[in-house]
This record gives sequence, structure tokens and C-alpha cells, in this order.
Amino acid sequence: MNQKLLLTFLFAYYLCRMDQLIAKIENYKKEIAASVVHTSDDLEAFRIKYLGTKGLVKSIMSEMKNVPADQKKAAGQLLNDFKILVESHFETLSAGISSHSQKSIQFIDYTLPGDTIPLGSRHPINIIQNKIISIFQRLGFSVAEGPEIEDDWHNFSALNLPENHPARDMQDTFYISQNPDWLLRTHTSSVQIREMEKGILPLRIICPGRVYRNETISARAHCFFHQVEGLYIAEQVSFADLKQTLYFFVKEMFGEDIKVRFRPSYFPFTEPSAEMDISCLICEGKGCNVCKKTGWVEILGCGMVHPKVLENCGIDSEKYTGFAFGMGIERITMLKYQVKDLRLFSENDARFLQQFTSAL
Ligand code: PHE
Repeated sequence: MNQKLLLTFLFAYYLCRMDQLIAKIENYKKEIAASVVHTSDDLEAFRIKYLGTKGLVKSIMSEMKNVPADQKKAAGQLLNDFKILVESHFETLSAGISSHSQKSIQFIDYTLPGDTIPLGSRHPINIIQNKIISIFQRLGFSVAEGPEIEDDWHNFSALNLPENHPARDMQDTFYISQNPDWLLRTHTSSVQIREMEKGILPLRIICPGRVYRNETISARAHCFFHQVEGLYIAEQVSFADLKQTLYFFVKEMFGEDIKVRFRPSYFPFTEPSAEMDISCLICEGKGCNVCKKTGWVEILGCGMVHPKVLENCGIDSEKYTGFAFGMGIERITMLKYQVKDLRLFSENDARFLQQFTSAL
């Protein structure tokens, strides 16, 4: 075959490919013009068929690679025009569909209430913690926080609980295995030590936070719970100040009619120490299961800060005295809302949590 013949042959072949492309496009145009679109589902089917990632426009575009270099410009123009045509047809169809649905809006009953947006609610422990904080803030206490992973000094030794002190067994402690000096705090008294060490007096703080004890989980005990502890250190602070502060707190928390009693107790970090009971809210003192038929429930421990604790923090115990108290938020929440099982607080069951809608 001579060269001239070969070129003629190739030219005819290429022309043939272009013709095929043009014919294909013309057929598709007819098909598209005839397609019927009534619903948004039809519209979506149209989009997928022609404009989708595996759609017709994409596949016909891929034919560009078969077009010879000198024809690419013309073929590109052809394909691009086709693409624009399909896209504008799609726009027209979708405008038709949305004006159709606009019409159906006329049949909506505007007097029906709107869809409600579900709102979350505060966790009951949070509600009560905030309430406790706001009561003490009105008495001039400010909030102090500290780490949940503590060292032995702040959680025990500084609080007059040296190593091997039997009272350490009162609080089953989680130790951090890599470092026996580290532990999960068993009370927020550790925060009080940190604040006293700063040496700024007088000091009037409350310390809310999560604490950990290695207890078997049951309706009445958990391996973590929440506390608010309080501390007031100044010159001439007395046990009478402590009682008055706590009387104010329980009346604000539980109402004017609540009865209170103090029982002598023991804590290594306070002397004298006491526990405070309130009259049972469930049976109003008549005796029930919650108060174990006594009519009283214990809500907190308290006492005058032990002089050794003050000295451990560099405070002159001849000049300053102070009181401290500590309560479990779960206990108070259970009494306030009559929740019988502690585990409900950490299970995150929405049916339980949705019942608490206080703004606090
Ligand atoms: N730290 C004690 C506890 O966790 C509570 C307490 C605090 C008692 C302050 C007396 C004074 O049980």
C-alpha cells in the first residue's frame, strides 16, 4: 500500500468515528427530550442515568481518547455542548418538580404545631451539685478544683493519715500501678490541702468533684461518686460557725421544716469530728427502709481542722482555726429525687435522665 492510499484510508476511518459519535449524541438527545419526570424519584433516576458518576455523559466523555489528535478539538466541543445541554435539561426538570411541590404546600395545615426540637436535660448530679455550689457561694465560699489523679501526700499524709495509719482502710484506694505514690483521689479533701498550701488566708472554699473508691458496685455503693467538700480557715473560727453554716445549707437545700442532728464521729483530719443527719425526707421521720427505721439519714461528715493538718500546710495553728465538711452528691440527689438505685446515675438511660429538667 502506498503512503497516499494509507492516509486516505485512515482519514476515512477517523471520519467514520466522528460520525458515529455525532450519531450517538443525536440519539441520546432524542431519548432525553422524551424522558418523563413526574416525581423527585424520577428526577433522581434521571440524574443518576445521565449525570451520575457512572452516567451516560461520563461514559461518552471517555470516548475522547479514541478520537485522533487533529479531531480532538471538534469532538471536545461536541461533547461539551452535549454535557451542557443535559445539565440545563436537568435544571428545567428539577424546577418543574419543585414548583409542583410548592403547589402541594397549599394543602398543609398551618395551624399544626411545628416539629419539636429535642432538648437535652442536665444530669441530676449536675443539678444538685450546682445547687449546693450556689448555696455556699451566697455565704462567700468560692469554688476550687484539683486533679483526680493525686499523690499520697495530698490525699493522705498531709491530712494526718501517715503511711500504715489504720484509717487509710476506711477508703479502699485505687493505686496507679506504674507509681505507688499515685492514686485516684478518694475525697476532694486533697484539693483543700492544695489550696491551704498556697498560703493565702483567710480561705473559704468548696471543692466539688469526682472521687474513686474500690467498692463493689451495688444499689448503695459505686467505685466512683461525687463530693462537695468545704473549708473555712480564718482567725477565731469556731464549731458554732460550722453548725450555723450547715444549718443554713440544709434549710436552703431541703426546706425550712428539715430537722438536723450532729453525732460525734472520727476523721483523722478533724478534731472534734461529727456526722450530720437530717430527718428522713421519705417518711418524714416516722421510719422507713431508706432511714433503716431510724427516721434519720446521714448526709455529711465535718469537724474542726486538725492543727497538724494546718501545720502540714504551713499555716500557724496558734493563730488560725478552721472547719471542714464533706458530702456525697449522690446521697443528696437520691434523697431529693427519691432515687433508690445509685447505678442509675451512671447508666445513661435516656428514660431516666429525661425526667430531670431543672434549669440549674
Ligand atoms: N473527707 C471525708 C470523706 O470523704 C469527709 C470529710 C471532710 C469529713 C471534711 C470531715 C471533714 O469521707
